[in-house]
Amino acid sequence: AHVVTESCINCRHTDCVEVCPVDCFRAGENFLVIDPNECIDCGVCIPECPVDAIALEEDLPPDQRSFVRINAELAAQWPAITAKVDALPDAERYRGQPGKRALLKR
Ligand code: SF4
Ligand code: F3S
Repeated sequence: AHVVTESCINCRHTDCVEVCPVDCFRAGENFLVIDPNECIDCGVCIPECPVDAIALEEDLPPDQRSFVRINAELAAQWPAITAKVDALPDAERYRGQPGKRALLKR
């Protein structure tokens, strides 16, 4: 499946949700995840993300591997999102910042 990684946290631009043909994005307070049971690996969401947060599971760098499990866990808890909403207010300040993982709100 495709996976949303750390770069999305506190940015949450939501451009990705508009293009998914199977509506498998799920929304939390400051992060989105992909439901791995629904994703068909079409890849169209990857170039939509302005902060390059989405990757195919097999292509994840080692420091983002833990997001495979995080996506699976949170997809089971969070509601679907299928239409774009505003990015989070501090999205630009958090763009590309390392160490955002600790800020993830579950
Ligand atoms: Fe949706 Fe395709 Fe992205 Fe999977 S890879 S989340 S099916 S747009
Ligand atoms: Fe997050 Fe990028 Fe989508 S910031 S909400 S993965 S467009």
